[in-house]
Amino acid sequence: MSVETPIRRIWPTPATPPLDDAELTALYGRADRPHLRVNFVASVDGAVTLDGYSAGLSGAPDKRVFGLLRMLCDGLLVAAGTLRHEGYRAVRLSGPRRAWRRAHGLAEYPTLVVVSGSLDLDPAQAAFADAPVRPIVLAHAGAAPPPGLTDVAELVRCGTDRVDLAAGLAELRRRGLGQVLCEGGPHLFGALTAADLVDELCLTVAPLLAGPGPGRITAGHAGTPRDLPLRHVLAADDGVLMLRHARDATEPTPAGAAPTA
Ligand SMILES: NC(=O)c1ccc[n+]([C@@H]2O[C@H](COP(=O)([O-])OP(=O)(O)OC[C@H]3O[C@@H](n4cnc5c(N)ncnc54)[C@H](OP(=O)(O)O)[C@@H]3O)[C@@H](O)[C@H]2O)c1
Repeated sequence: MSVETPIRRIWPTPATPPLDDAELTALYGRADRPHLRVNFVASVDGAVTLDGYSAGLSGAPDKRVFGLLRMLCDGLLVAAGTLRHEGYRAVRLSGPRRAWRRAHGLAEYPTLVVVSGSLDLDPAQAAFADAPVRPIVLAHAGAAPPPGLTDVAELVRCGTDRVDLAAGLAELRRRGLGQVLCEGGPHLFGALTAADLVDELCLTVAPLLAGPGPGRITAGHAGTPRDLPLRHVLAADDGVLMLRHARDATEPTPAGAAPTA
């Protein structure tokens, strides 16, 4: 990827020169144990969408980190609501990023994992129909899949009448998907927080006021506040901030040089 909008580290140690992809990759890295990372973009006044979608909040720096985080994960977890609303397509990575994954002993693509209570999913959606790796759908025992879904995805049942997220993550880990990146949405993030399953939040803060209306990055029932210490702050030259909060003080394992893509 060409570095159109430079990104610099401003905390804890300011690094004046713009970060290249290898440095960014090392800053996020892969954990040395099973790990759930959540990634969101929000406006400075806390909105999760602009005109109903996340796209209006995201720019080149956010897309750059978004792509790098996908490169680093084993499983890409997304709620059915976000999959449907944002029209998720098949997970694709550039040739250099696929090569980077192979060089680091990873599958060429991460596995898409969809969480759904209703199983109101369209097997023809490109996220399923064109997937380079057979996606997994985490569902509970009481939900019936629509025709064709099991042709394009593997149904994994966890929970009798609701999706048991802890059991679902344990099953992903059993299958070798230890590093999971969750791309939302708010209800899934809220449920993961309530179940105390979130290890890390990567938050891009867009320098704009969305005003009243949109929801926050989290939704659902109120729960117990949890500490999530700040680990780094990056700033892009267009005023976008990128925060990494993680509960574990251990720095991510540097994952080696990253490709430009
Ligand atoms: N700014 C950002 O970074 C960002 C990121 C992602 C999404 N978004 C925005 O968020 C909005 C979508 O939010 P949303 O309210 O629909 O929330 P959501 O969490 O994306 O989706 C909720 C749906 O996902 C499934 N789901 C989530 N948690 C579940 C759980 N614990 N167990 C079982 N199923 C679960 C259910 O699907 P079923 O109905 O199939 O049961 C539920 O109805 C969109 O506007 C999207 O653009 C923004």
